[in-house]
Amino acid sequence: MVVVITGASAGIGKALAEALHACGAKLALAARRLDRIEALNQQLGGGHLAVAADVSDRAQCESLVQQTIDRFGRIDTLVCNAGYGILRPVAKSSRDEILKMFATNVLGTTDCIHAAVPVMKRQDPRGGWRGQVMIVSSVVARRGIPFYGVYSATKAAQLSLAEALRVELRADRIAVTSVHPIGTDTEFGDAARKAAGHDLAIKAIPGEHRQSAATVAQKMIHAIEKPRPEVWPFAPSKLAVSVGTLIPGIVDRVMGKRVMPEQVQRGEAPGRV
Ligand SMILES: NC(=O)c1ccc[n+]([C@@H]2O[C@H](COP(=O)([O-])OP(=O)(O)OC[C@H]3O[C@@H](n4cnc5c(N)ncnc54)[C@H](OP(=O)(O)O)[C@@H]3O)[C@@H](O)[C@H]2O)c1
Repeated sequence: MVVVITGASAGIGKALAEALHACGAKLALAARRLDRIEALNQQLGGGHLAVAADVSDRAQCESLVQQTIDRFGRIDTLVCNAGYGILRPVAKSSRDEILKMFATNVLGTTDCIHAAVPVMKRQDPRGGWRGQVMIVSSVVARRGIPFYGVYSATKAAQLSLAEALRVELRADRIAVTSVHPIGTDTEFGDAARKAAGHDLAIKAIPGEHRQSAATVAQKMIHAIEKPRPEVWPFAPSKLAVSVGTLIPGIVDRVMGKRVMPEQVQRGEAPGRV
C-alpha cells in the first residue's frame, strides 16, 4: 500500500514511517526539513519518496500528492500529521501567530485532502476502501487547555472536519479517521516553547500518562489496516475528556490549579507569556 505522511521528519510521523516500512508499505515522506526525510529514506533502504513540502502552502500540498501519484500510481492512506503549537495564552497570541498555526494545522490538512480525495475517488477499492484520510488531531480537540488554547482550537477544527468528511465520503468508499494522542514524547514541547520564546512549561495534567511516538504509531497502523472512525492511543483519555464535557467548571478549576505554569500562578511570568 502507498501512504503519504506529512510531518515525517520527527516524532509521530517519523515513528509511523518506520513502522509502516516494516509492514512493507511504500511511503511518501514530507516535511520542510528535506535533509531529515532524505536521511530517514536512506535509513529505510532508499525505496521511498522524500518530498520537501511546507503544508501551509497549498501548491506544495498539491505537488506532494502529484509527486506521489507520479512515483507510486495511487494513494491508499493520506496521513495529515504535520502540526505544531505555541505555548502562549490566547489573549497574548498575536493575530499573525494564530493565522500561521491555522494555515499549517488546519489548511495544511484541508489542502492535502483537496488534492488527494479526487485521486482516491478514481482508484479501485482495496479491502472495501478506495482510500483513507487519517488526520492527526489530539486529545485537546475535545477540551482546550491553558497555554495551548489556539493550538487546541486547530485540533478541534481538525476533529470537526474529520467528523463531517467521514460521512460525506462514505458513499465513495473513502475512510476518514481522526487520531487523538495524549502527551507524546516527541520534539513538540520544545518546538512549542521555542516558538513562544520562553522556557515555561505547563505542569503535567493530573493523572497524566505519556506515550512514546512508537506506541502512537502502532495504534495508527491498526486503523490503517482496518479503518475506524477515531483512534485514541491512550484509551482512558477518551472517557476522561467525555466526562469533562459534563463538568466544565470543575475541569476549569483543576486546570487552573494543576496545569498552569508555576511562574504564571505566582505572577512571575514575563510580558508575552
Ligand atoms: N507530541 C504530542 O504530545 C502530541 C499530542 C497530540 C497530538 N500531537 C500532534 O501530532 C502531530 C505530530 O507532532 P509531533 O508530536 O510528532 O511533533 P514533532 O516531533 O515536533 O513533529 C512535527 C512534525 O510536523 C512537521 N511540520 C511542522 N510544520 C510543518 C509545515 N508547515 N509543513 C510541513 N511539515 C511541518 C515537522 O517537520 P519540519 O519541521 O521538518 O517541517 C515535524 O516533522 C502534530 O499534528 C501534533 O499536533 C502531538
